[in-house]
Amino acid sequence: MASVRVDQKKRALVRSVPSSFTNALARFFGQGPTDVELARQQQQAYIQALVDNGIEVHCLAADENHPDCMFVEDQAVVIDGHMLLPTPGHPSRVAEQPPIAEYLMEALKGVQTCTMGGEARMDGGDIIRLGDLFFVGRSSRTNDLGIASLRSLLDFFGYELRVINIPDHALHLTSISSTPTDSIILAPEGYLSPSDFGELPEGCEIVWLPGEEVYGCNTIGLPNGKVLIAKGYPGVERELHARGLETVEIDMSEIRAADGSLTCCSIFY
Ligand code: GLY
Repeated sequence: MASVRVDQKKRALVRSVPSSFTNALARFFGQGPTDVELARQQQQAYIQALVDNGIEVHCLAADENHPDCMFVEDQAVVIDGHMLLPTPGHPSRVAEQPPIAEYLMEALKGVQTCTMGGEARMDGGDIIRLGDLFFVGRSSRTNDLGIASLRSLLDFFGYELRVINIPDHALHLTSISSTPTDSIILAPEGYLSPSDFGELPEGCEIVWLPGEEVYGCNTIGLPNGKVLIAKGYPGVERELHARGLETVEIDMSEIRAADGSLTCCSIFY
């Protein structure tokens, strides 16, 4: 989940991989997954990496009717103890939400929750957070009414929101960028440009990676200072190491085949 600061990552919600995962939506990084067992093993390694790095993980049961259900990030946006339940941008994914919402409402007792109405659409995967500055992708999944709902919540906190147009050859903002720390953005050339992000707060920087490493730009900054990265992106690893950050590498090949990145697979709350 890209809407919490690194220090706020204490608990994560994940959801098991259904046997129907081979029918998951896939348009960008892969041709669709073929090996459900391998995806399950990769998810297990992901969970273990979170646990090993101090995060308490809860896993919801899979929903066979929803091949994309493991990608929980899209279904709920937790910001400083408040929760926005977006209407997901793809119709096949809307009914994934109720068990996730129910679990989080119970886990975050008394949480202030808002929903979206009318034509508003948003996937949580379109949000990244750099400290107290937020970016949202205007994408095939997130429209202006969805962005307006997010803006209302952020206005309540006094946080700034900047909108980035996601190019047609990408799914979400988190598919092509992330904040491994509260002062670094990773972004790929050929997808985004400095003007998309605007002027950053003092001490913050954008680290540009070649377009071939776009998938690797999705990382998870962990509260112990380490960074979870996908295996196979040496430029990402090199740039993080050059900034003194230790990395933990996960093989994401079969999850990537369903256009899923590291952040897609969890909600921090
Ligand atoms: N397969 C993830 C998505 O398209 O939402």
